[in-house]
Amino acid sequence: MKYIAQPQVSEEEISLVAQTIRSKSFVEGENARTLEKEFAKFVGAKHAICTVNGTAALHLALEGLNIPPGAEVITSAFTFIASANAICFGGGIPIFADINPSSFNIDPEKIKPLINPKTKCLMPVHIFGLPADMKAILDIAEDNNLTIIEDACQAHGSRIDGKHSGTFGDIGCFSFYATKNMISGEGGMVVTNNDELAERIRSLKNHGRGPSGGYHHHIIAYNFRLADPLAAIGLIQLRKLPKMLEQRQKNAEMIRSTIKELDSLRVQVIPTGITHGHYVCAPVIENPRFSVDEVIKRLNNLGIGARRIYSVPCHQQPTYLDGIKHWRWNEFVNYPDYSNVNLPVTEKISRSHFEVPIHPGVNSEEIVVIQNALKEIFS
Ligand SMILES: Cc1ncc(COP(=O)(O)O)c(C=O)c1O
Repeated sequence: MKYIAQPQVSEEEISLVAQTIRSKSFVEGENARTLEKEFAKFVGAKHAICTVNGTAALHLALEGLNIPPGAEVITSAFTFIASANAICFGGGIPIFADINPSSFNIDPEKIKPLINPKTKCLMPVHIFGLPADMKAILDIAEDNNLTIIEDACQAHGSRIDGKHSGTFGDIGCFSFYATKNMISGEGGMVVTNNDELAERIRSLKNHGRGPSGGYHHHIIAYNFRLADPLAAIGLIQLRKLPKMLEQRQKNAEMIRSTIKELDSLRVQVIPTGITHGHYVCAPVIENPRFSVDEVIKRLNNLGIGARRIYSVPCHQQPTYLDGIKHWRWNEFVNYPDYSNVNLPVTEKISRSHFEVPIHPGVNSEEIVVIQNALKEIFS
């Protein structure tokens, strides 16, 4: 409870990593292939392609779909900066749509007015592990001939009517960063049901090689391969994921039940049919009488690792207010003046939320301590 996240690793991970190193398997190999196979099965996708991290997964997705320089990709600003930055890598332009006040996810109604001939792709982010409104987003994409990349980097285990996040659009991207629902330290995964796309992404992540490898290179490409000792960690973590998700859900439900009793706090609403991945539990303070900083200080003083997360949304980050003017693509691409972007819901939630620990290393007694602390502060 002292830490907001804590990797749950045990002798099983250590043993497979040791075995992998003893067999001198350092580069992407057998563990990575097994991880891909089992991950594809877990999410219900035809292909899973492991990568060096979630940011690289998004980069590969955009390049795999041939999003050209100057194309606009609509996403949320209430997310980790990597969602937006990945769009910029190949000269794409991040266009930020406001979020829905109940889900904190991109609001489909706010996407529609932003669509113009330069729009090529929608990138919903399943924030904190709650799936975005994929039905509405799929309809918008179909009506406007747009591709969809799902940023599911926080959404392992989350589902809509039983279908896993990341499998609705053309491509889904996951992160195995050390704080995530399952980890490999650094690592990520691209999932798709499209055979051609899968083959192109496999080549893009491996120096433009074809399936048989070797020294024939077909496209300008990257090295985004995942080292096999890290894939070993990912593989064991994936097998433990259902159990870890269970504990996350239990912890989150306890905190959510307390928040429901407190008028000054609210959390993401989980509609019927939706399974939340419970990566993050982030209450929003509704009452101006309470300061976020003061609340975090009081929780920290009780040994609870509360903190702010996206208090500065992407469009208000120095990266987009100023840094973008010095970005290499700025010479060739017309970025909007992000200081003119107004996202009232995003900005309000950014300012008023904080995170409390729900990771599987927190036990029920510790959750009771967090519940009591919230009750004492907000009653
Ligand atoms: C929403 C979101 N997108 C992208 C990323 C990038 O993933 P990674 O840190 O593995 O590069 C993260 C993770 O930190 C994330 O939370």
